[in-house]
Amino acid sequence: MLFISLYFFDFGVNMEREFIMIKPDGVQRGLIGDVITRIERVGLKIIGLKMLQLTKKMAEEHYAIHKGKPFYEGLIEYITSGPVVAMVVEGKNAVKLTRKIVGATNPLDAHPGTIRGDFALEIGRNIIHAGDSPENAKIEYSIYFEDEEFVQYKKIDEEWIYE
Ligand code: RTP
Ligand code: MG
Repeated sequence: MLFISLYFFDFGVNMEREFIMIKPDGVQRGLIGDVITRIERVGLKIIGLKMLQLTKKMAEEHYAIHKGKPFYEGLIEYITSGPVVAMVVEGKNAVKLTRKIVGATNPLDAHPGTIRGDFALEIGRNIIHAGDSPENAKIEYSIYFEDEEFVQYKKIDEEWIYE
């Protein structure tokens, strides 16, 4: 059965897991539903989803690559300022696809139709985080999820989404 799935849907080729976080501004502004809708409708499969408030330690681990940059302190304060929604999605080219849906880091550069382009206007309040590579996504989601928490299932629309 697994073999048949691999054969028909080309599973395994560029199948990726992406880490997404709806930041505190996205939650406070009531955008959880809008964000999840956009992720779902493109065909990505949600395999992990939770609401939590980041501790300073979690935030520092998450944004370790930005330590020392001028915006770092403000970024840690912002990301820990209220609850967030963390999720892991799976799909073909999930990282590239998600980053396209999310839009450029600065909402001023993000195109209309992207989450940041449609819902945000400042770089420091840009609604959503998404991992920038499969490797970084894994490092990030490992902060928030144990591997056993991911739900493995087949969605009924997969044969209409994958050729
Ligand atoms: P993210 O990690 O949050 O998904 O965003 P990103 O990859 O598009 O951008 P990144 O360069 O990783 O920056 C992380 C977050 O830091 C804030 N930032 N502020 N004031 C600034 O110049 C500045 N630059 C980055 C943003 O909230 C950005 O999402
Ligand atoms: Mg980033």
